Amino acid sequence: MTTRKGIVLAGGTGTRLYPITLGLSKQLLPVYDKPMIYYPLSVLMLTGIRDIALITTPQDQAQFQAMLGDGTQWGLSFTYIVQPAPEGLAQAYVLARDFLAGGPSAMVLGDNIFFGHGLPEILAEADARPTGATVFGYHVADPERYGVVAFDADGRARAIVEKPAVPPSSYAVTGLYFLDGSAPDRAAGIRPSARGELEIATLLEMYLADGLLEVQRIGRGYAWLDTGTHGSLLDAGNFVRTLAERQGMQIGSPDEIAFQQGWIDADALRARAEAFGKTGYGGYLMSLLAP
Ligand code: G1P
Repeated sequence: MTTRKGIVLAGGTGTRLYPITLGLSKQLLPVYDKPMIYYPLSVLMLTGIRDIALITTPQDQAQFQAMLGDGTQWGLSFTYIVQPAPEGLAQAYVLARDFLAGGPSAMVLGDNIFFGHGLPEILAEADARPTGATVFGYHVADPERYGVVAFDADGRARAIVEKPAVPPSSYAVTGLYFLDGSAPDRAAGIRPSARGELEIATLLEMYLADGLLEVQRIGRGYAWLDTGTHGSLLDAGNFVRTLAERQGMQIGSPDEIAFQQGWIDADALRARAEAFGKTGYGGYLMSLLAP
């Protein structure tokens, strides 16, 4: 059982998905049959984390509360925190200082989807490191769209560069950050960048400067899916659909994970399944009760 707390960062204005996100939070959009935020939430749950802060814009908070409630349906506890303005990923640690109470955390971006056999093991390894920071490097065709790792000759990280015009490698830093309890203090010392944000890359470089940043490369057996554009959002939905229909198994179901983890019992799962009626998702949850 981990003592780490979780953060799902679901702020931002979703401008790249306009006009869909004009009145609707990006992280609540569907990825095939489930809201986008179910997927990153599932990653925290697979890590064993039950105490989770959901950071949203002021205007979207009520919608998140309507969709996710207080977390008890999954044996979780949710704390809602507002990010008044989109002032950077690292600001999440400043906003979550009281919630974290000096302890370690795992933060996942509300639009990041991870999938892969062995993911729980990778998460457990990162969780087991009590101090410092662990992030994940993933080989992509378009690194300039992400935070990118620069490696030295020995393959060790030497810099993290946000959206570089000329990427120093093809390894993007995924939106999943395991940081120790020093993150809020470190983040508080960051000055806003030219674009007015507290940059996550700056926070990670603080750990790097102290010799405390671990960049774990995740290999080709994993999918880290992008939902940043209309096309990639559709692709992610198709990916989820293809796997779910082929295997008859869900990706990113908080209900299934809560049940597997023993955080909810069969009666609670049945109640959820019945509430979803004849949907494929409801039927799937029902099937978990009678394998
Ligand atoms: C953010 C981070 C970037 C990271 C990416 C992962 O970028 O700034 O370092 O690689 O998330 O999804 P954004 O998607 O906010 O542009």
